[in-house]
Amino acid sequence: MDIYVDSANIEEIKKAKELGLADGVTTNPSLLAKENGRVTEILKDICKEISGPVHAEVLSLDFEGIVKEGKELAKISDNIVIKIPMIKEGLKAVRILKAEGIDTNVTLIFSAGQAILAAKAGATYVCPFLGRLDDISNDGLELLGVIRSIFVNNPDLDTRIVAASIRTPIHVVELSTMGVDILTVPSKVLSQLEKHPLTDIGIEQFAKDAEKFKL
Ligand code: G3P
Repeated sequence: MDIYVDSANIEEIKKAKELGLADGVTTNPSLLAKENGRVTEILKDICKEISGPVHAEVLSLDFEGIVKEGKELAKISDNIVIKIPMIKEGLKAVRILKAEGIDTNVTLIFSAGQAILAAKAGATYVCPFLGRLDDISNDGLELLGVIRSIFVNNPDLDTRIVAASIRTPIHVVELSTMGVDILTVPSKVLSQLEKHPLTDIGIEQFAKDAEKFKL
């Protein structure tokens, strides 16, 4: 199981890396908009820090535009993966970029059918957004389970799942239990995973008791 940082912030990425929690990075236009500087430079800095895949999203929505932008982004570094929205034009672009040896991630996946189409188009990764499904009273984790079953039962589909839109530590635990390939986690959730009140109480108690003996 790989854990990626769902962020375009270099400091957050460095902190996650120190804890072994940066097997890769996913960015998107909303995450990049929170940072200062030119997108190309931000992505270059991330690629210098992280040896694993760094996912960068195209803005174009037409086939030619997606292919052109994807090739440009791929020049930034060998570990760039091109994120492409789940639309027909995007699926056509996935095939062309794959033929050129460029890895792709079909993003904004909200149904099992979309995941199948992306996998058949040759996507290296699919990116289902579970939190956004939960937001509209659907069951995001259930969808992840279905997509995982489809990929496990059809090993000819050579596509990895990147579970995205992870909002809580429970999402992380449930996805790990399911055996989802990759979890992309925001740094807030990474911090939440670390905390437990009983750990703090235990440390305090041990420190108090340690005052009673000599080393
Ligand atoms: O990688 C993109 C995805 O994680 C977005 O998350 O919280 O904006 O739905 P969110």
